[in-house]
Amino acid sequence: MSESERPSGCTVIVGCQWGDEGKGKIVDVLAEDVDIIARYQGGANAGHTVHVGDEEFVLHQIPSGILHRGKRCLLGNGVVLDIVQFFEEYHALQARGVDLEGRIGVSERAHLLLPYHRLLDKADECQATRKIGTTGRGIGPAYESKAGRSGVRVADLANPSRLQELVAAGVEHAERRLAALGQEYSSELQGAVDDALSLGEALQALAADTGLEIMQALRSDKAVLLEGAQGTALDLDHGTYPFVTSSNTTAAAAATGVGIGPTAISRVIGVVKAYTTRVGNGPLPSAFDEEMDKHVRELGGEFGATTGRPRRCGWFDAVLARYSARVNGLTGLAVTKLDVLDTLPEISIVTGYRIGADVVEEFPADTWSLGTVEPVLETVPGWEASTCDARRLEDLPSAARHYLDRIQELTGAPVEMISVGTKRSQIIRSV
Ligand code: IMP
Repeated sequence: MSESERPSGCTVIVGCQWGDEGKGKIVDVLAEDVDIIARYQGGANAGHTVHVGDEEFVLHQIPSGILHRGKRCLLGNGVVLDIVQFFEEYHALQARGVDLEGRIGVSERAHLLLPYHRLLDKADECQATRKIGTTGRGIGPAYESKAGRSGVRVADLANPSRLQELVAAGVEHAERRLAALGQEYSSELQGAVDDALSLGEALQALAADTGLEIMQALRSDKAVLLEGAQGTALDLDHGTYPFVTSSNTTAAAAATGVGIGPTAISRVIGVVKAYTTRVGNGPLPSAFDEEMDKHVRELGGEFGATTGRPRRCGWFDAVLARYSARVNGLTGLAVTKLDVLDTLPEISIVTGYRIGADVVEEFPADTWSLGTVEPVLETVPGWEASTCDARRLEDLPSAARHYLDRIQELTGAPVEMISVGTKRSQIIRSV
């Protein structure tokens, strides 16, 4: 691509299902043509898998764009930063030869996720009668501290006495809550917090005003990618509450989560897998029966990148995807893992949910009713041929093209990218 053809403006990449849609791969492909890649929410609960040559990288907090030499990668204010895990990932990348010098910035306004948040997450899950099935990374409690106005921010690292006061209050609060939950908490908690904070100076060296940096880049006609974690159905407001994560995953949160205005965003690409998966608890209306679930899980390698948990699998859910297209204001879709369906003789799409005598075509707010709906299926022929080597739409079997056309018609968002394998090169760009 010549310099004059390079895109400028700000693009959001957002998951449109329950996470694990393959956003890391799409970000990795698009990162080539941008200047800055920024994460806007979530924390170490995310697991973005990227394949470069024969190497596999699993990134939890550092944006997937880091694997492109010279690109600047930011963690916005909307992220909850696990400082210990962040530096583990940082040093692991360095050990594999990735040059990080001057390439990573962390918002001064980002909140720190400290060891007590993890303990609280595990304790809450352990005693809950209705378990969410969290990743155990402390995400909920860290966002609780933030919303409760008792969080510790990167900016606080510059003021040792304020930091000490905030952290002492955090530890005390955690100890009280752990005791109330009847959980043993180890006397090593304070030590773990001290260890985390010993990395504070190194983190301060990366502190940045992410909103300012992004706006300056956009004003100089540079291109920026805002990388979402998890997916729309896990959004705190728009997902299957309470079986959600504790942040807003949807595209509008990208502006808040890095510190720019919504008018600065020019493009929103929604990522959907060619089928659906879910890890953690909560309803999955398009779920397969047991045998098919196992079959597709094996075909797609559907095990969590963060926790290794098996993902539940189901058909493509067009009700959810259409809802996601609306709440995210999608300008385009990226369909991933099309190749996983290559061997199936027939493929179904969920076009509605039957509730009693009614067929509902809009995603219901009542999560409990979602658990009892009967999916309305439209079945189309499979293509029973490999799509792995396709690089243009014309290379795809006609049944695969028809399947993508149906996804486009049913969601109302144009399919712009199709991923047909884990490698960077295994991508079809239709615009
Ligand atoms: P938490 O984000 O760890 O609090 O987990 C809340 C819910 O979101 C659980 O159902 C998790 O399995 C799910 N979740 C969190 N992060 C991811 C992800 O990156 N991919 C898929 N599911 C996730």
